[in-house]
Amino acid sequence: MDKYYLTTAIDYVNGAPHIGHAYEKILSDVIVKHYSQRCEDVYFLTGTDEHGIKIQKTAAERGITPKEMCDENSSKFKEAWKALGIDYNKFIRTTDEEHEAVVQRIFDKLLKQGDIYKHSYEGLYCSGCESFLNPKDLTEDGLCPIHHKKPEIVSEENYFFKLSKYKDALKKHIQDNPEFILPKFRANEVLNQLDNIDDFSVSRSSASVEWGIPVLGDEEQRIYVWIDALSNYITALGWDVDKPSEKFEKYWPVVHHVIGKDILKFHSIYWGGILMALGLPLPKQLLVHGFININQEKMSKTLGNVIAPVDILKAWDLQIPDAFRYYMASAAMIGKDGNYSDEDFKEKVNADLANSTGNLLNRTLSMLVKYFDGEIKEEFLISSDLYKTALGKVKIVENHFDNYEIAEAGNEITDLVNITNKYVTDNAPWTLAKEGKMTECGQVLATVLNVMCVVCSLIYPYCPNIAKDMARQLSFDLNTKLDDLTCDNLKVGKFITKEEIHPVFLRLDSELADKTAKK
Ligand code: MSP
Repeated sequence: MDKYYLTTAIDYVNGAPHIGHAYEKILSDVIVKHYSQRCEDVYFLTGTDEHGIKIQKTAAERGITPKEMCDENSSKFKEAWKALGIDYNKFIRTTDEEHEAVVQRIFDKLLKQGDIYKHSYEGLYCSGCESFLNPKDLTEDGLCPIHHKKPEIVSEENYFFKLSKYKDALKKHIQDNPEFILPKFRANEVLNQLDNIDDFSVSRSSASVEWGIPVLGDEEQRIYVWIDALSNYITALGWDVDKPSEKFEKYWPVVHHVIGKDILKFHSIYWGGILMALGLPLPKQLLVHGFININQEKMSKTLGNVIAPVDILKAWDLQIPDAFRYYMASAAMIGKDGNYSDEDFKEKVNADLANSTGNLLNRTLSMLVKYFDGEIKEEFLISSDLYKTALGKVKIVENHFDNYEIAEAGNEITDLVNITNKYVTDNAPWTLAKEGKMTECGQVLATVLNVMCVVCSLIYPYCPNIAKDMARQLSFDLNTKLDDLTCDNLKVGKFITKEEIHPVFLRLDSELADKTAKK
């Protein structure tokens, strides 16, 4: 594997980022960091989706222009991702001029080749989904099943995309490529939807929605949301109609779209159809995650339980985002919904990061200083069964990532730490020292430290700052690719001084925890 291109969904900017947006970006950043430990060339795209009726309405309610609101909120997303350590290569905004111009040309091409046609239509529009709904998909009360709102009846002349032409080819692609949609159970959902899907609207009249990209040569129509939004994945690479760019040639179609379950239909069916119409290959994979609930409840403005990710960092007085990243990346098994609660957060990060990983490293280094003045001697470096286990875990973690099992991979790392902790308890280096068996004692400590280098490397995608701190104390080169990892990391000689040892993660303070839990 030499290249890896990952994209996230681009977020609507009618509000500030919440923990659900953060979940997706953290998951994506963890994946990107993991693959940067396996391939030479990784490209990570995120951004904001800035057109549409929702944005137009919210800006009007606030008495500002849509562009002013987009600028304000798009910056909030960027700030939040900085605070969470999300290292994207490019942040695209759908109001970027270059993007808008290419979207117009895409639309024009599809119109000229007959994949887009004009049609009078009356339908049920959900502004939450920014899409017309099929009456069959509504709840018994006639509400949108995702947004629980009554859709508006819209009667307009719009442009439509001829999805019917591509339905069979899409079905075949999904059936022939079982890895296309992960987790696999989501693919059946799409196949069922394909049976009931019609051509879809790709424009709205400018009278009803002004805040959209104008159709070239038809001022009365605005290109609407999905062609605009989905095209970001190629316009961001500099692709233009009939003019593929260098980046596009390099990264397409080795692309992995990380998206929430609510927008799978748009990415598998709409995007698939648009790409086929453009004569472009389909993405390699759609990685579909579930939703994050708060205290087991759906997050919603009405319930007043929407949490901003930066508020969590502030509430816990966290200078680095690692604990939150670690928790979020482990919050849900593949594709399933997950949950955030202050209590779980405190418990999980205190157990895994402070008590297990941090404490193990701290104790071992302290013993090395206490018994050997921080020195590794030649005779400490022996082979150990624990090394086989550690390197075996590297393969297991890689395999989990390849199956988009990020929480499961995290559990394997904790398991390796627990096994190593047990090894320390079973071999009791403090007793060996008391009995004067100094070589055996040194061997136990060196074995643990060699394994901790592997742990440090594996945990880096989740907790980059903690991993860097561990690497410094272990004199370990964190740039080592996973394939080059060994358990032969320690050098003979003075290893560390007392002053250089410090805990890499402090337990979350209980008082603070109780305070936030009560809020
Ligand atoms: N703008 C569209 C996506 C266009 S992609 C070409 C959109 N925006 S969104 O702001 O509503 O959602 C952005 C991403 O956040 C989506 O993948 C969505 O599934 C995800 N989430 C929104 N709420 C969420 C949770 N509560 N939990 C986890 N992810 C959630 O859809």
